[in-house]
Amino acid sequence: MPDPVVGAGEVLLDIAATAVNRADLAQRVGNYPPPPGASDILGLEAAGTIRAMGPGVTGWSTGDRVMALLGGGGYAEQVAVPAGQLLPVPAGMDLVTAAAIPEVFTTAWMALSHRACLRAGEHLLVHAAASGVGTAAVQMGREMGAAVVAASRDPGRLDVARAMGAEHELTTTDGAFAEALRGLLPGGVDVVLDLVGPGWWDENVSCLAPGGHIVMLSLMTGRTVPVDFARLMPCQATLHVAGLRLTDPVLKAELVQGFGQWGLGRLADKRLRPVIARVLPLADAGTAHALLEDTPVTGKIVLEVTR
Ligand SMILES: NC(=O)c1ccc[n+]([C@@H]2O[C@H](COP(=O)([O-])OP(=O)(O)OC[C@H]3O[C@@H](n4cnc5c(N)ncnc54)[C@H](OP(=O)(O)O)[C@@H]3O)[C@@H](O)[C@H]2O)c1
Repeated sequence: MPDPVVGAGEVLLDIAATAVNRADLAQRVGNYPPPPGASDILGLEAAGTIRAMGPGVTGWSTGDRVMALLGGGGYAEQVAVPAGQLLPVPAGMDLVTAAAIPEVFTTAWMALSHRACLRAGEHLLVHAAASGVGTAAVQMGREMGAAVVAASRDPGRLDVARAMGAEHELTTTDGAFAEALRGLLPGGVDVVLDLVGPGWWDENVSCLAPGGHIVMLSLMTGRTVPVDFARLMPCQATLHVAGLRLTDPVLKAELVQGFGQWGLGRLADKRLRPVIARVLPLADAGTAHALLEDTPVTGKIVLEVTR
């Protein structure tokens, strides 16, 4: 591929590492085309050092260590990225670790802070709590002062959620999920972070406290579902459906910078930690995809770029 050309308001990054996201699997098989203007190379995040800056970029210098949220182009040696989508890598953090941060932490920030306006004292249900986004959301929910209920198909993977501060764990294969949640929390939860998709709609509605929010981010278990508004009205529910990659660039930069303001200090002192399952060379991206497709992966798989 030709080297990327840095445009106005962009920086050119020498990538040290990128990380795998479930969206990459869908894009690879043609089910998730990149948005207009984005690179058609896979990869939604990266960490590295700034090689060059386009016109109009201020506040950064060549050689700065940064992590970046990308519209695409992360599985590469270089990428051009809007400066608003960069954050500095905290001192003492290596670039491989930093590469696991931008996509999942910004997604969880968008869902919990920007959409659901999660507040201290509220109850947050995180589905797929051991996933990349799930591990970020459990920690962020805890840091926002919420009581987190972590859910997974595999009870063995909920240990990691407890270690990250979840107060309750529930297994999603036992049936009667909402009933079990109501057994723990009779009032229900204020926010459901749905990382598994429409297949969980009925259960999610049954888990909701009055005035609650469902933030739906996944199509993993389908695309459509019948909605019974008579069930939603009494609890005054709000449904949010969001896609970070498809977000307008101005809002995307606001989300990255908003997370940075809130989260960089917490990452620096390790109140927030990216959970990394494996680190592989970029040349083994195929192996990384197979692992994510075929095995339970707790947290993220990072791909390291070697020159
Ligand atoms: N809308 C957005 O902006 C946005 C951004 C990022 C990610 N996402 C979506 O959020 C979800 C989580 O992303 P991620 O990158 O954290 O994913 P991931 O690490 O690949 O984890 C997905 C998890 O979902 C659970 N799961 C439940 N039902 C499943 C099924 N039928 N097939 C496979 N896994 C299933 C699994 O956890 P258990 O086995 O523990 O249940 C699995 O670990 C994905 O659907 C992703 O596409 C959306």
